[in-house]
Amino acid sequence: MQSNDLAQLPLRRRIKARAERLFGAWGVFARGFIKHPVMVGSIVPSSDRTIAKMLAPVQWQDVKLFVEYGPGVGTFCRPVLDKLPRNATFIAIDTNPDFIRYLRKTIPDSRFIAVHGSAADVCEIIASHGFDHADYVLSGLPLSTLPGTVADDIAKATHSALKPGGAFLVYQFNTFTSQLIRPYFDRIDRGYEFWNVLPCHLFWGWKAAAADAPERTHH
Ligand SMILES: C[S@@+](CC[C@H](N)C(=O)[O-])C[C@H]1O[C@@H](n2cnc3c(N)ncnc32)[C@H](O)[C@@H]1O
Repeated sequence: MQSNDLAQLPLRRRIKARAERLFGAWGVFARGFIKHPVMVGSIVPSSDRTIAKMLAPVQWQDVKLFVEYGPGVGTFCRPVLDKLPRNATFIAIDTNPDFIRYLRKTIPDSRFIAVHGSAADVCEIIASHGFDHADYVLSGLPLSTLPGTVADDIAKATHSALKPGGAFLVYQFNTFTSQLIRPYFDRIDRGYEFWNVLPCHLFWGWKAAAADAPERTHH
């Protein structure tokens, strides 16, 4: 049920529907954390203030493809869809099939595609939906606890997937992201949000626009 539909219901049913939606999402998220604590990384979804701050630099009118890694139960998905142009596409990628099933059931929006897969395969995933590049990629992944080279593979693949001038938006409980994305991204802006469980660091990694892209070698 969308927020607009809720407004049409009588007050009691509206409160019940909101409560079901809230606890439904929390229940699915908590179960996901208990099953895969390392992959999920947090027991509490991001706060509204984190969402607003993280998305603030996005130039929504130019967006054709927005990608999210690790959407969980969709805490960022609805605010993204509220701002996304009508003809744009939003691809959300998560390794947890329970979260993907939940997102498909609760977000019936024709712009929204929930993909069961790994962020490391972002280039193949967007290509399979007909896109060469994404304008923005948002990550809620617990990058510092992912096994082996997965985090580095994701940083590298994200740089390839972004259009020149695009950005990688990352929120994390630690500053690991800064070192992780430095070899790939031309400029990194940083922020901090105290009102989140736990307070978190925000990073915006910008890919140089075509004209001023420096030559780089990625190992
Ligand atoms: C901390 S939760 C993010 C929660 C949500 N984005 C929020 O703001 O509340 C991390 C998510 O990353 C997912 N995940 C972990 N490794 C992944 C990978 N390699 N590719 C895509 N998703 C992954 C987990 O299944 C989980 O849903």
